[in-house]
Amino acid sequence: MKNIGVLISGGGTNLQALIDAEKSGIIKSGRIVCVCSNSVGAYGLTRAEKAGLPTKVIRKNADCGGDIDEFSRKICEYMKEMNVDIIVLAGFLAIFGGKLLKEYAGKIVNIHPSLIPSFCGEGMYGLKVHEAALDYGVKVTGATAHLVNEVVDGGKILLQKAVEIQDGDTPEILQKRVMEQAEWIILPRAVEMLCSD
Ligand code: GAR
Repeated sequence: MKNIGVLISGGGTNLQALIDAEKSGIIKSGRIVCVCSNSVGAYGLTRAEKAGLPTKVIRKNADCGGDIDEFSRKICEYMKEMNVDIIVLAGFLAIFGGKLLKEYAGKIVNIHPSLIPSFCGEGMYGLKVHEAALDYGVKVTGATAHLVNEVVDGGKILLQKAVEIQDGDTPEILQKRVMEQAEWIILPRAVEMLCSD
């Protein structure tokens, strides 16, 4: 049984999908042991508390003086303290590096709301991804669950799922469809894949 640490920044719907997947047995080789947010106001923290999970806030600017290495070190320290084996970036919108990547190489999974290699990389997150897909005029988008390495959105792809774009889509409507039809399905499956090696 692997210990899972989840990093979030916002609403935490992907965290909720993981909590639900653990309950329903889709995730059976791991259990969520803690949730860490880089923002105090993240609603995902409330979801975590409701599920009885320990939480911690680590902010790059307020707690680490804006230093990315210190930020990575502090998150790593918390993950170690909670005996975390596998880290899930569930809507974690901060960039980190250094110690955390080294210590957890091959053990960090991210969910990205497009079909990588489209609409990804630095600065491409959240609604911006869906805006870019609509601006380009693609007819199909989706989500990608992938391992995290030093290249932003560049690690090995674990799972992808396509979602159709419909006439009249706004970034908000598309974001919701991609979450419902792709992210919340493939992220728990990818986490189970990683936990069961
Ligand atoms: C999700 O759509 C996730 O794929 C995206 O942020 C949203 C977070 O929602 N992540 C990225 O864009 C990472 N580059 P949530 O907090 O409700 O899970």
